[in-house]
Amino acid sequence: MKIVHISDLHIPVRIPIYQLRGKMFTGYLNYTVLRSGKHPVKIRESLFEHIRSMDYDCLIVSGDITNLSHKKEFLETKKLLSSILDNRTFMVPGNHDRYTTSSLKPKDLFVETFGDYLGTPISNDGNFYLYEKNIHGKAIIGWDSNRPTPIAIASGYVEPKVVSKTMDFLKKRNIQNYFLVCHHPIWNPPGKIETEHHKLLNRDYILRELSQNPPLVYFHGHSHDNWLHRLEASGTMVVNSASSTRISDKKHVCGFYTCDIKGDKVSFCRFAYNEDLEKFEESILIEYN
Ligand SMILES: [Fe+2]
Ligand SMILES: [Fe+2]
Repeated sequence: MKIVHISDLHIPVRIPIYQLRGKMFTGYLNYTVLRSGKHPVKIRESLFEHIRSMDYDCLIVSGDITNLSHKKEFLETKKLLSSILDNRTFMVPGNHDRYTTSSLKPKDLFVETFGDYLGTPISNDGNFYLYEKNIHGKAIIGWDSNRPTPIAIASGYVEPKVVSKTMDFLKKRNIQNYFLVCHHPIWNPPGKIETEHHKLLNRDYILRELSQNPPLVYFHGHSHDNWLHRLEASGTMVVNSASSTRISDKKHVCGFYTCDIKGDKVSFCRFAYNEDLEKFEESILIEYN
């Protein structure tokens, strides 16, 4: 079984400035001035072309598809993503897809737009986000670590109820060696530690709870950098494929990973955009011990 993992597409979409209020207005300025040039259309097109040429069983997209979670962004990004969306796709939202309360109420725009690609809700409760998709007998679990935050805050939090329901679900179905997808990291490389304003705030709690039945792989994004690391305590592989559509520079090594699974053995490849060749190609595996 092969999984392709991409993240943090941050697809630029033009929005009429008169439609922007509060955090969306400052976010739009930030994104048009600082971010949009770093996610050029040619990288996104090359990424999608590369994915279409690959043979895989599951495409994981771990959030931050949009920038401001404006309704127009959801409509446009769905159209732009259409050539790689099919029954193999598994998505979770990122903080930029939950940027303002208007993206959640009265309607959850992320769920409304990408509902066909989120898997099946584990509970019919409706008060929390917990999805599962089964591909070739392997369970893939999706969490939402995001909620609207004040300006310049991008921290995450996973409801304890979601963590305990996940553990219950796995136990009841006797599932082990599953895959977990969540936008925020649960581990950072040395020298790349996130601030309180950016990190998953209850990550220690989550790691403790997951130790009961750790995932084979934890797929995430959020920190625009690539890394791969085996957590010593649990053996879980942590994979960061952010940002798959960004130009790499001194502080950000970008691209995406693929994951091959045979039984409980996993192996990885990494692909990065070659600016000279204007296409993605297999590149060095960025792995931390
Ligand atoms: Fe991001
Ligand atoms: Fe993010």
